[in-house]
Amino acid sequence: MTEQTLVLVKPDGVRRNLIGEVIARIERKGYVVTDLRYVSATRELLTEHYEEHVGKPFFEPLVEFMMSGPTVAVRVEGNGVVEGFRSLAGATNPTTAAPGTIRGDLGRDWGKAVIENIVHGSDSTLSADRELGIWFK
Ligand code: RTP
Ligand code: MG
Repeated sequence: MTEQTLVLVKPDGVRRNLIGEVIARIERKGYVVTDLRYVSATRELLTEHYEEHVGKPFFEPLVEFMMSGPTVAVRVEGNGVVEGFRSLAGATNPTTAAPGTIRGDLGRDWGKAVIENIVHGSDSTLSADRELGIWFK
């Protein structure tokens, strides 16, 4: 099977009308969108998705942020797409994310309790399969 990843346009990206911009970058790179849905994430879903961050100081602000509006979940396919999308997204912190990346071009520090950085991308094929199962139940 072709490699797949989970991309999320987080609530800040949806609020700022960047859904099309994110998807355009994925498509221009040559990856293929094979499923897409609007999700109003619950605390339960987010605790499952962000299980590696449970207990960290930014976990509660992260959950509040991710419940602040709808998220668009996108299934993306292509060889090397997990690493490839992480490269398109750029570093976690948008202040230092390289220009040319989604976070570098479109993100900034808004002085919030948690970093708002427009997109999520799975960090391994194992995470991708796990996360796709959560968002596309
Ligand atoms: P993501 O999972 O969303 O693709 O982002 P990532 O791998 O680049 O970053 P990760 O370490 O997994 O953190 C998940 C999300 O939590 C928020 N975060 N805020 N110190 C902070 O304020 C902080 N650290 C992490 C970000 O929204 C990050 O994307
Ligand atoms: Mg992560």
